[in-house]
Amino acid sequence: MATDNPTQITLLRGDITEEHVDAVVNAANSSLLGGGGVDGAIHRRGGPAILEECRELRGSHYANGLPAGQAVATTAGDLPARWVIHTVGPVYSAAQDRSGLLASCFTESLRVAQELGADSVAFPAISTGVYSWPVDDAARIAARSVRTAQRTVPDIRFVLFDDQALSAFEAAFEREA
Ligand code: APR
Repeated sequence: MATDNPTQITLLRGDITEEHVDAVVNAANSSLLGGGGVDGAIHRRGGPAILEECRELRGSHYANGLPAGQAVATTAGDLPARWVIHTVGPVYSAAQDRSGLLASCFTESLRVAQELGADSVAFPAISTGVYSWPVDDAARIAARSVRTAQRTVPDIRFVLFDDQALSAFEAAFEREA
């Protein structure tokens, strides 16, 4: 089905907190109260306004935390972006196939972005840090998810923090072309 605004997907190396997009996706944890990695960078650079809205979410819709695979938006505070879309990746397990949950992080974040009216979204390599997901497999899941997402936005970027992740994503998007 032809789409009037085909999605453009860009892969780049960089710091996602510096990306000038409408929405930056955060690899959060279920508490939504911050952490290390990209979560820590976003809260550090974005400032307290983000955490304030996360606390409000915990006090209302997400009293028990944001489940893995789901996504929710807050202000982006002092970041160049307008929104942060927090999503919780699954922790990698060799015993259990959690790839559906990781795919859902991408498709749910795109759904939220579209509902916000965002034209551009930047993703980190969700679950490939503290949550130990092998980066090649995460890249494969990311490529397939954003390519087949029903709800999407015109400009999708993957901002990779190191060369290994960038190469893995470049290879995955080649294969999934
Ligand atoms: N910009 C872009 N990517 C980044 C940045 C940054 N500033 N900082 C880290 N990354 C990359 C990491 O190198 C990794 O490739 O983000 C990817 C995801 O790693 P994590 O941030 O560790 O996220 P994840 O593996 O999903 O684990 C989530 O870690 O930080 C905590 O609170 C977070 O508990 C949650 C868990």
